[in-house]
Amino acid sequence: MTEPTNQRERETHEPEELHNPVPWPVAIVSLALIAWGASYYFQNTGYPAAAGDRRSTIVVDPNAQVDGAAVYAGNCASCHQPTGAGLGGVFPPLAGSEWVVSDNHDIPAQILLHGISGAIDVAGTTYNGIMPSFAQLSDAEIAAVLTHIRSSWGNGAAAISADQVATARKQHADRTTPWKGGEELLDSLGEP
Ligand code: HEC
Repeated sequence: MTEPTNQRERETHEPEELHNPVPWPVAIVSLALIAWGASYYFQNTGYPAAAGDRRSTIVVDPNAQVDGAAVYAGNCASCHQPTGAGLGGVFPPLAGSEWVVSDNHDIPAQILLHGISGAIDVAGTTYNGIMPSFAQLSDAEIAAVLTHIRSSWGNGAAAISADQVATARKQHADRTTPWKGGEELLDSLGEP
């Protein structure tokens, strides 16, 4: 290594010479970035945790057309079977059932809204099981599934509307137990 020949280069720097202030253009750019970051943060807080994703949510229309066959497949077919024929002595048929096709449309609606527990005669056979309530389904879903079972497997009864189900729901709103078989249905709602 050869020593620098130049006098200035051989000298070490004085400490105060190393204390270089930040050049003012760099300081301005840094401050501008900090200010931009802070304003971005404050402009975007207060939104839900999916930060920044402010796409509009899908609005589900409760009155939109409901597929009765799909409601049946998801809620009823396990017991009443996809054919609506029921299951020998345990689950009564919906095909050819006087309760299903009743002109008194309140009857099938009330069966779904409260369930049944107790003896019920269906198409000449007595069943004695328990059917749960389906009150958790919306009026439109109950109307759609009733319309489906009233018009499938040879049944030919009129459609039931969501408004009719809503009325039926209000009518026995204070009831908390299932209908006690066919007898109570006949007493409270009349002949199917
Ligand atoms: C867990 C099994 C089960 C499910 C699920 C079920 N049911 Fe039932 N259902 C029964 C039983 C059991 C009876 C007879 C109750 C009795 O003996 O008191 C019955 C009776 C009925 C009746 C009156 C009798 C008849 O056969 O016409 C109708 C109408 C009916 N169910 C419709 C439906 C519909 C519609 C659904 C779906 C929303 C459904 N059920 C879901 C078990 C079920």
